[in-house]
Amino acid sequence: LPTAVQSRRLFSLYRVLTECFSPSLPGPPSLPLLGNMLDLTRGHLPSHLTSLARCYGSIYRLRCGKTTMVVLSSAQMIREALVKKWPDFAGRPHSYTGDLVSGGGFSISLGDYSEEWKMHRRLVHSALQRCCAQSLHAVIERQALTLRQVILDYKESPVDLSKDFTVAASNVITSLVFGKEYNKSSAELQRLHDCLNEIVSLWGSPWISALDTLPLLRRFPNPPFSRLLKEVERRDELIRSHLQDCKVSQQIDLQNQDIHSQEVQLKDTQVHMAVVDLLIGGTETTAAWLYWMVAFLLHRPEVQFNVYNELCTVLDSRYPRYSDRHRLPCTSALISEVLRLRPVAPLAVPHRATRDSSIAGYFIPKDTIIIPNLYGAHHDPDVWDDPNTFKPERFLEDKGASTRALVPFGGGARLCLGESIAKMELFLFAAYLLRDFQFLPTGNKTSLPDLKGVASVVLKAKPFHVIVRPRP
Ligand code: HEM
Repeated sequence: LPTAVQSRRLFSLYRVLTECFSPSLPGPPSLPLLGNMLDLTRGHLPSHLTSLARCYGSIYRLRCGKTTMVVLSSAQMIREALVKKWPDFAGRPHSYTGDLVSGGGFSISLGDYSEEWKMHRRLVHSALQRCCAQSLHAVIERQALTLRQVILDYKESPVDLSKDFTVAASNVITSLVFGKEYNKSSAELQRLHDCLNEIVSLWGSPWISALDTLPLLRRFPNPPFSRLLKEVERRDELIRSHLQDCKVSQQIDLQNQDIHSQEVQLKDTQVHMAVVDLLIGGTETTAAWLYWMVAFLLHRPEVQFNVYNELCTVLDSRYPRYSDRHRLPCTSALISEVLRLRPVAPLAVPHRATRDSSIAGYFIPKDTIIIPNLYGAHHDPDVWDDPNTFKPERFLEDKGASTRALVPFGGGARLCLGESIAKMELFLFAAYLLRDFQFLPTGNKTSLPDLKGVASVVLKAKPFHVIVRPRP
């Protein structure tokens, strides 16, 4: 048997040979020192990375300091990495700022792949599943009816619904986690959201990410970074007081479920960070999707009419249930098409190669950062006809399309933890809204919402107003 030293040498030889014989990854030219950093600070990053994919292919590399990033822009490659070879790509990049916002790497979304992380995710996932089976449908129905009343109170005056959608989506999560709902004017809810939004937007800013790539900068004063630290402190105080007040154990039961039987115990920080994960992951995403749906429907009123007709014909006069979705193909097609054109988490969350591996025949060394460009995959002209056009009917004509090429929730070990909650929310909120209301533009064609949007961690539509008319 080879000794440990010999095995290490053999392994290094194997690595060098694999690296030499596999083709080198294409990619745009990189500047000395800066690499491709300028490419990463573009305004609409998902669309910029997608246009690079048209030049360099569905897999290409970008350099940022010493780090190599590999961008995947087709569903096939994203699936190969995230699903087929999931153990190789289930890691998250380590970063100085990521550690600070995730309580030292204890969050599910930013924590690296490890036995402890797997246990954390498994426990939170099963707590969510149990809670969803017991009460999710009723919670969403209640929120959909509350939203209905809020909209009725606008009495057809032009409104921006973004905040109402955020409150509705947020209340679903706070009902599950804290057993508590808020109204739009609640100062408590406002404080929590302002704080979480501020953290997400500050953390995504180049001033902060520069601290990860150029550690020297940490020695200099950096006001956005000081603000980030203050907001993280505020977030932790707010969550701590909510957890104490609302007796989490009666709700999602993160602290007690299954834990004793498995003789494992979540640390307080893990419970705390799981709550942060669910609030951040589950609010802006769903709210942004609802806002996009209204924006697209204003551009194509006939789609709105078809969905309304379907809801009236199939359901007669009752409200939909989630189990009705298979009998409502137009509604389901609308949901899939909005998820396709505007995946609200357009670049997912970066992954890290946990060991040497390969994607599409290219050698990918350990610690390479993988960016799953979901936006690019959903605009892939090899898969989708007329990829930039809003056409829900494509899902009626080709029923296999969604399973083949839609990846809005990522996949594999890091699949969105709230996928089943989100799917039920999108369906019920959309069906309730479109059964009860007609969404109308506030003026002529020039008043229609911009459809490009603003991309950060979440891809959002630019603010717009709409008239919401109750259906007879
Ligand atoms: C992660 C999409 C709603 C909680 C993700 C990821 C995507 C995604 C693309 C990254 C997957 C990856 O890293 O490969 C969406 C979309 C939603 C949605 C499109 C709605 C339209 C939700 C909801 C929740 C949630 C409602 C919570 C209740 C999470 C969490 C993660 C995550 C905790 C981190 C998972 C991990 O790192 O293991 N989501 N999400 N998401 N999402 Fe969602």
